[in-house]
Amino acid sequence: MIYAANLKCNHTRQSFSYYAKALDEGISDEKVLVFPPASAFSKGEFKFTQGAQNFYPVKNGSYTGEIGKDMLDEFDIKTVLIGHSERRVLLGEDESLLKAKFDFAAREGWDIVYCIGESDVVHMNGSTKEFLASQLKNIDLSYKKLIIAYEPIWAIGTGKVANGEIIHEVLEHIATFTTAPLLYGGSVNEKNISEIAKIELCDGVLVGGASLVATEFLKLIEKAGRK
Ligand code: PGA
Repeated sequence: MIYAANLKCNHTRQSFSYYAKALDEGISDEKVLVFPPASAFSKGEFKFTQGAQNFYPVKNGSYTGEIGKDMLDEFDIKTVLIGHSERRVLLGEDESLLKAKFDFAAREGWDIVYCIGESDVVHMNGSTKEFLASQLKNIDLSYKKLIIAYEPIWAIGTGKVANGEIIHEVLEHIATFTTAPLLYGGSVNEKNISEIAKIELCDGVLVGGASLVATEFLKLIEKAGRK
């Protein structure tokens, strides 16, 4: 089981240093990925893997406000999140930028957690599967270091976790396109994790709110009851 913490726009360098220490002390051989804000990247050696929430698909250059491969290399970061709905919606990341990011990361041989997920409207009108297929059409689904995170937008940060049947049905659909490990994300917390962990085909979770405090994230990992 993969436990991924998306810290979003939370944690300073100082607070993340305490977080990283506490998390590191609490985990053993679970596969844990942590995505802190870039300003909090750490050079520490940890049992978890540190990843980047964002990058621009370049080594360096005139891209105001962005970070490229050189900045990730400084922290030995080789794991990236691409396609998160907050970046698609709030920052306007479109399919062509996402494809450029995917292709760049794949050329570098990075581990990619690629996020897909439908809006409330798409969910209500029953076209989730077609929508998700359209979000997957631009990337190489046979890429060996790909992980796909299914995160319905209506479940992110809302406390409205998708029910097990929906998650199973959607993951089964995604598995017809790829053998990549599949994560679920959207209001995962220590109360619902044990049910989610039982879902066949669910190889892990991408957690936002419930990962912000190290001790709570550790509790969630423990409650999942799966290595
Ligand atoms: P949430 O966020 O756990 O706070 O719903 C998940 C995510 O956006 O990755």
